[in-house]
Amino acid sequence: MAVKSGPRQSLTVIDNRTGKSYELPIKNNSVLATDIKKIKAQSPDDIPEDETSQGLRVFDPGYMNTAVVQSKITYINGQDGILRYRGYPIEQLVQKSNFLESAFLLIYGELPTEMQYAKWQDEVNNHTFIHTDMEGMFKTFRYDSHPMSMLTAAFATLGAFAPEANPSLRGQKLYTNAASGDLESLKVLDKQILRILGKAPTLAAASYRMRQGRPFNRPAKGLSYTGNFLQLLDNLSEREYTPHPVLEKALDTLFIIHADHEVNCSTATVLQVGSSLVDPYSVVAAGCAALYGPSHGGASESAIRMLMEIGSPENVPAFMEKVEKRERVLVGFGHRVYKNVDPRSTAIRALAEEVFKVTGRNQLLDTALVLAKYARESEFMRSRNLYPNVDFYSGLIYQAMGFPLDFYPVLFAVPRCVGWLAHWRQQMLTPSGVKIWRPRQLYMGSGERDYIEAKDRQVKKDSTIFDAPVAVSHGGDSKRSQLAILKEEKVRAKL
Ligand SMILES: CC(C)(COP(=O)(O)OP(=O)(O)OC[C@H]1O[C@@H](n2cnc3c(N)ncnc32)[C@H](O)[C@@H]1OP(=O)(O)O)[C@@H](O)C(=O)NCCC(=O)NCCS
Repeated sequence: MAVKSGPRQSLTVIDNRTGKSYELPIKNNSVLATDIKKIKAQSPDDIPEDETSQGLRVFDPGYMNTAVVQSKITYINGQDGILRYRGYPIEQLVQKSNFLESAFLLIYGELPTEMQYAKWQDEVNNHTFIHTDMEGMFKTFRYDSHPMSMLTAAFATLGAFAPEANPSLRGQKLYTNAASGDLESLKVLDKQILRILGKAPTLAAASYRMRQGRPFNRPAKGLSYTGNFLQLLDNLSEREYTPHPVLEKALDTLFIIHADHEVNCSTATVLQVGSSLVDPYSVVAAGCAALYGPSHGGASESAIRMLMEIGSPENVPAFMEKVEKRERVLVGFGHRVYKNVDPRSTAIRALAEEVFKVTGRNQLLDTALVLAKYARESEFMRSRNLYPNVDFYSGLIYQAMGFPLDFYPVLFAVPRCVGWLAHWRQQMLTPSGVKIWRPRQLYMGSGERDYIEAKDRQVKKDSTIFDAPVAVSHGGDSKRSQLAILKEEKVRAKL
């Protein structure tokens, strides 16, 4: 093979503290953080906690410019608005694929053949039932519990039903042995993927039915992944429940675009937790916990809340004025990575129209469409490249389909199990083995000090919120209980 000639692929760094020069190799437009660690300089004035003898560190709070994995799964280019699963553009997958096929692609790297797909679909469907004791877990929740609390707990609980899949019980290398081609290890690994994908809609639907005080439905055969999900959510004893095809297809498409999004917050969490070699149920529960946060899975819900606040189309101009005065943010517009176009929103815009044709319009939709028009024409929005993101349209579709607001993150978590599992599988199959993820910190606290006996301690002068807990009120406090505590304190004071 011809060797490419060109500039040396390296970075020369001169440490001005020592005058030493270092050459750091560049590969895939990146340098190794461990190469930076080779840069060392010590001086008598060093703060010991800075550990200068152990080499230079890379400070990157929030992972603003740190690549933590080599991955073959998903490619995102924010500048050009590109999203590809295993090389296939999202727009093509949305048009031609379906959720289960895209799931196979994401997890195993290639589109399945017809036979592979039929087997895959069958196997996922075989795992849709949950142990009836799992239903007991749901019933321990209060009727008004957030469905994401239930779903997160449900995945962790599910792990207790699969002790043979737990590396803490069956050996640390239960999954990582698969990297060296151990067939038994691969079988255990892939079985858990089937179980989690099969059971995710059943668990999600149970969290929904709990809120409504309705009995849990049993999974149905002969329906698509999203068709079965809708049946689990909505069936009221129909013997042959058939969801509306447009809504089933819409949900399937939304599932495709939510299946993976590179190393986002919840996927990074999955990899962090997975690196401890814990079981995949705990891994997915951790992913759910990360996704539950309003900065991650909550934007589509916030977009709808904003539309409810705007109320009706005639209030849009006044709201836009506030946005242009920077008093308000237009939720559902703009994106941290996609700076020109969010390819996912382009892919589902037409879908939203299809759904509205079936569900009919309402004032909220009318408000949203007027808002989108105003935003398109606004110089403020245009000059900042702010256009509707995926959450704007997905929120509208969920709303039109009648899902309650707090169910939106669940509708995100179910398909995202695919991405989490694809990344987890890739991690377990890392040829060089799995290193536990252990970031460093820059220690900014006190230097070493001696323990002070309780009688000699004094409240710190100029103390701040960081030095002591604030006084909190307790739900059970009443005049009666406060008086009772006072009496007890008097007794205590006499001792
Ligand atoms: C997603 C988001 C956090 C990206 O933030 P970011 O990458 O830090 O964006 P920037 O700070 O580069 O924004 C550039 C400018 O646009 C403004 N801006 C960004 N998003 C805006 C929005 N949704 N409404 C109004 N102004 C917005 C910023 O105030 C900034 O203005 P300035 O240049 O005059 O200071 C941001 O667009 C946002 O808050 N959007 C609304 C929430 C949302 O929909 N989140 C879901 C994303 S999938």
